[in-house]
Amino acid sequence: MATYLVIGASSGIGKATAKILALEGHSIIGTYHKTEPEKIENVRYFPLDVIQDTLNFDFVPEQIDGLIYCPGSINLLPFKRIQPKDFLSDYNLQVVGAIKSIQANLNRLKSASNPSIIVFSTVAVQQGFNFHTQVSSSKGAIEGLVRSLAAELSPTIRVNAVAPSITQTPLAKKLLSNSSKIEANAQRHPLKKIGTAKDIAHLVAFLVSEKASWITGQVVNVDGGISTLKI
Ligand SMILES: NC(=O)c1ccc[n+]([C@@H]2O[C@H](COP(=O)([O-])OP(=O)(O)OC[C@H]3O[C@@H](n4cnc5c(N)ncnc54)[C@H](OP(=O)(O)O)[C@@H]3O)[C@@H](O)[C@H]2O)c1
Repeated sequence: MATYLVIGASSGIGKATAKILALEGHSIIGTYHKTEPEKIENVRYFPLDVIQDTLNFDFVPEQIDGLIYCPGSINLLPFKRIQPKDFLSDYNLQVVGAIKSIQANLNRLKSASNPSIIVFSTVAVQQGFNFHTQVSSSKGAIEGLVRSLAAELSPTIRVNAVAPSITQTPLAKKLLSNSSKIEANAQRHPLKKIGTAKDIAHLVAFLVSEKASWITGQVVNVDGGISTLKI
């Protein structure tokens, strides 16, 4: 059985991923920031704020099989209303936080038999949507990071990104705050529904597993078909 570090395992997709991997019998080191974590068998929780300059990962064992980095934001605003500092704080959370976390744990990953790293992009990087400039700027950087880092860490550590469309989690709460917003978002997707945290987490669990041992440098969409289908 494997040991996975899930950064941001207290909410949404990270929590669903921790649950699925724990149910498979793996050992999960999960982190939380502001949300009091739920007790889940096989999941041990530790506090972490990835915005801090120096991150302390002393609670992580010497060897891990995977690192899954979940912190992110969805701030949708017209471009002219977003301050440069807002772009920077998004970049800090979504990109620099991932870089610091990966750098601090590379040695723990290196000695595992099928080690991998998962980060999150968004469907809004490859498809242009109104009011998505802030999130797509930093997620675009994540997609660049994934490809370059996957090359640099091959053949030892696989690196992949998952790019969801709108998914029912606390992060997307404002966009899905009533049934008409949920229905309008569902109707934009060829599969006529929004995502669930489990929809995304099942792909993450696959990507870190032995079954995905020939997959690296990929950005995989889970998005009800919205990125590729016009119907
Ligand atoms: N939901 C969507 O519609 C959607 C769509 C496209 C992409 N994504 C991406 O998918 C990923 C997961 O999103 P989600 O919807 O599951 O988000 P979520 O429900 O907000 O969960 C994010 C997790 O990251 C943690 N986190 C946030 N800020 C942190 C910080 N400063 N330091 C350490 N941990 C921090 C949170 O901890 P606490 O809760 O304990 O503070 C939480 O466990 C994100 O990268 C997001 O951009 C989501």
